[in-house]
Amino acid sequence: MEPIRFSDNALFKGWGEPMRTETTIEGLEIIQGSIPEGLEGTLYRNGADWQYPSGRDDDIFIDGEGMYHMFRFENGQVSYRSRWVHTERYAMQAEARRALFGRYRNRYTNAPEARDANMGTANTTAMFHAGHLYALKEDDLPYELNPDTLETIGRTDMDGQITAQTFTAHPKVDPITNELLAFAYQAKGDGTKDICFYLFDKNGRKINEVWFKMPYAACVHDFAVTDEWIVFPFFPLITDMDVVKAGGNYFQWQPDEETHIALVPRYGDARDIKWFKGPATSAGHMLNAVHEGNKVHLDVVLYEGNCFPFFPSPAGEQAAPVPPFLTRLTMDLSRNDGTFEKDRLLDVSCEMPRTDDRYQGRPYKHGFVIVYRSKDGSSSTGRIDFETGRLDTYSPGPGNTVQECQFVPRRPDAPEGDGWLLVPVARISEHRSDLVVLDAQDLAAGPVATIKLPVRVRSTFHGTWVPAETLKSGQYSYELGSA
Ligand SMILES: [Fe+2]
Repeated sequence: MEPIRFSDNALFKGWGEPMRTETTIEGLEIIQGSIPEGLEGTLYRNGADWQYPSGRDDDIFIDGEGMYHMFRFENGQVSYRSRWVHTERYAMQAEARRALFGRYRNRYTNAPEARDANMGTANTTAMFHAGHLYALKEDDLPYELNPDTLETIGRTDMDGQITAQTFTAHPKVDPITNELLAFAYQAKGDGTKDICFYLFDKNGRKINEVWFKMPYAACVHDFAVTDEWIVFPFFPLITDMDVVKAGGNYFQWQPDEETHIALVPRYGDARDIKWFKGPATSAGHMLNAVHEGNKVHLDVVLYEGNCFPFFPSPAGEQAAPVPPFLTRLTMDLSRNDGTFEKDRLLDVSCEMPRTDDRYQGRPYKHGFVIVYRSKDGSSSTGRIDFETGRLDTYSPGPGNTVQECQFVPRRPDAPEGDGWLLVPVARISEHRSDLVVLDAQDLAAGPVATIKLPVRVRSTFHGTWVPAETLKSGQYSYELGSA
């Protein structure tokens, strides 16, 4: 067998150094403060790690096999566990003891024995719905995991209900109604324009499915939901199968194409879809959407250019990165002229937006983001109050980095934004992580508890919080709070 050695690529250095190991710690050290009473449940997060070196020079940070993490809060203690998601490709590579999959999402660069394999890495997010825990990556079906051990149960089409070949890594589980809203894009295979919206009831039964065509074979990383309309933005990061078959990038930035937005009726069908368009922009992540009279607002972290510099234009130009800003795109259904309006909501650049999840698709006033990313690698967690315009922040100190935060209500019926923020912190110079618990209403006060990990939580993208009783019953019992 070939000796295993990662290249000098900066991707594999410093904080990015592959971990390649699973960790179990029953009872982490709490080095400051204490766990708030009533904070009982599990934070699940998902990210990528490198199983074997690919030997290529075009690896990108969003690739790599799924490494799933859980922090279980129980009786004032927190336990930690990380496990590989045993996808089909993970198992193939483990057996071969080498990388068999090539360029990101490009099966034409795989080793011959992996040319027809399922490509999913299950590395992007965690979802818990109707008693089941999943690992998701948008180019494949979900993988189900055991919520206590993180053992992989297997790839699933949810009892035959997912008819598409893919499933989003940005589903919305409504913790008030326990419905699941999700979609699949390039749903009939690589480079297809097919997209499908799914609505599942609280028991995981599919109650609506709307298929339609995208304007081009877009990258649809996220979407947003309201009570009546589901919002699908299409940005010109486009798959050209001729390029893919020749071994090139799966997506290309094509700024001559426009941004399109489809409003899909939540309970209707494709005949009632409304379309809007504007100049080329891009985004990975939506904060929220709100339906207000004849208007639908999409609050999105918008790039006035390409959000993924590693997917350049067909000419190969890698344009300078553009800063993302939280922006409100408004579609006016009464005007019906096919355009949308654009208003900046925050003048500080931000990413990885989250809300109090009880308010997804409902009128809301708080957003949680990562702000102040600086050249020394540090970043902060921010809370935006849209009523006052105030930005409250928590900094983990110079050189340290925050990952995406998770809001947990103080009580099931607490007012919006009243609760805790759970934030994985990368202690870069110490080569290890902390998990901090912040009071979501006073970030500047610093952590109410700091939970020390002796290892790195190397890279996590997204996650979810499952209260202890929800883990048992399969249902969230949250309510909308009164202020
Ligand atoms: Fe994402």
